[in-house]
Amino acid sequence: MKLRNALLAFTAGFALTAGQAAAADLAIVSGAVGDDLQTLRYQLDEFEKASGNKVSIVSMPPSTSDQFGQYKLWLAAENPDIDVYRTDVIWAPQLANQFVDLTEATKDVIGDHFPAIVESQTVNGKLVAMPYFTDAPALYYRTDLLEKYGKDVPTTWAELTATAQEIMDAEHGAGNTGLYGFVFQGSAYEGLTCDALEWVMSNGGGQIVEPDGSISINNPKAAEAIEMAKGWVGTIAPEGVLAYKEEDSRGVWQTGNAVFMRNWPYAYSLGNSADSAVKDKFDVSTLPVGPSGSRPASTLGGWNLAVSKYSAHPDEAIELVKFLASKDMQKYLALQSSRLPTIQSLYEDPDIMEKQPIIPRWKEVFLNAVPRPSAPTQKKYNEVSTEFWTAVHATLSGDGSAADNLKKLEAKLKRLKGSAW
Ligand code: GLC
Repeated sequence: MKLRNALLAFTAGFALTAGQAAAADLAIVSGAVGDDLQTLRYQLDEFEKASGNKVSIVSMPPSTSDQFGQYKLWLAAENPDIDVYRTDVIWAPQLANQFVDLTEATKDVIGDHFPAIVESQTVNGKLVAMPYFTDAPALYYRTDLLEKYGKDVPTTWAELTATAQEIMDAEHGAGNTGLYGFVFQGSAYEGLTCDALEWVMSNGGGQIVEPDGSISINNPKAAEAIEMAKGWVGTIAPEGVLAYKEEDSRGVWQTGNAVFMRNWPYAYSLGNSADSAVKDKFDVSTLPVGPSGSRPASTLGGWNLAVSKYSAHPDEAIELVKFLASKDMQKYLALQSSRLPTIQSLYEDPDIMEKQPIIPRWKEVFLNAVPRPSAPTQKKYNEVSTEFWTAVHATLSGDGSAADNLKKLEAKLKRLKGSAW
């Protein structure tokens, strides 16, 4: 990072001549979907004005799995060039040792955040990352199309499948041949773990590995749920869905080419943007229930901010994290990008309620969301998830039945677990 060193030297030189303490030159690394990097830049500009420090963004590919791989390498190499990492909710147990304990520094504000989120970022009493925003998915649906065909919002996956097929067929017949019934995240990465956990859990098939550490995924309800999803590929969903991440689904949806979409709340504000083909033509609901299940399931997501143990400016980095996680900045993110705040009082904020009505509606959804098994599987979560999404992706691609693939998955997970996670 030659440029950064040059900048540092410049800043230090300037401060010396000005007779002040040197301002720090920080770097934050972040992946992004939608306008995440633009909103982050706005927030950093505000921080720069308030603190006198400078912050540059190191941007990453959108897949959380790709980010995790790179971050592990940087942290293992004790990279001093990154001060703050934007971290996924599932990573805390795996990266806990590489980040600064934020407990002391945040004790004046941490009580404003939902306790469950704080707990998810606390490992052996250490606050590994500060909550930035939380996430729980929605079923996006086209109000205009459901109305045109006299259909209700589906509450079961079977209804969704039937409605999607019927509207798609009728629209194709009328010349709207680009329309698909349902788009979701079918690529082989962490996003598929989230989607598939919802299919399985909403069908009464458990949560892959249960909170007590037992491996539950090899069961008929889980297999039924994954077979159901396989039935969507090439029918109501494009074949290409097997390579879709969040932004691919949103691309199809926001150009008006899907009846239904499974996605996170960020797609709400973008769907209502001036250039969106679905502006004012959609709403959100909770995800449907499976044929053998009794209630819907949403996977808990969310992003946090962690300070690297190898940062040369830990104090300024902590200041930055607190700034980004503050009420004002979370309110900005909620208004701008319909990101769900982690600060409880913002769910009653009149501006947010008016501009992003999904947010107050989604409080209960995220509070009841299903965590991925990152807490019980601890440092092995990434391998567990990789094995799971690989088995699901194979099934969706026609490579083996769900029952066979889940049986093999169970054997792999048992080996991975050994005598204990
Ligand atoms: C969203 C969620 C995150 C999850 C990811 C999967 O960004 O917030 O927790 O891992 O989607 O693609």
